Amino acid sequence: MKRHHVMILAALGIFLSGVFASAAVLDDLLSKYQKTSGTALSATAGEVLWKEKHPQAGGASSHSCASCHGDNLRQTGKHEKTGKKIDAMPPR
Ligand code: HEC
Repeated sequence: MKRHHVMILAALGIFLSGVFASAAVLDDLLSKYQKTSGTALSATAGEVLWKEKHPQAGGASSHSCASCHGDNLRQTGKHEKTGKKIDAMPPR
């Protein structure tokens, strides 16, 4: 895994830990991400990444993770193009 990806996962991990009630499984994940990334984790940075808009090829409208998964990961998301339901993503 590229270092950049590890950092994104680490940031998202700590963002998720703020969204969902703290549990042992989250603490385990966070300490793994922390070790792998070797950087301080930030819930704020994770939230920014989640909501950041990314330009798409071919002039399609830019989208973020939240465009399909929604702002609240405990709720069902919806693919912005196909309308397909995406299961909620609480860590389990
Ligand atoms: C264009 C729509 C779209 C966008 C934008 C999008 N996703 Fe997804 N994502 C999906 C779909 C569809 C699935 C598969 C859901 C399924 O298996 O039914 C998925 C699955 C996932 C899963 C696996 C969930 C699981 O329970 O296995 C993760 C993690 C995920 N996305 C993270 C992200 C992140 C992080 C971003 C932003 C960098 C992002 N997604 C942006 C549509 C999207």
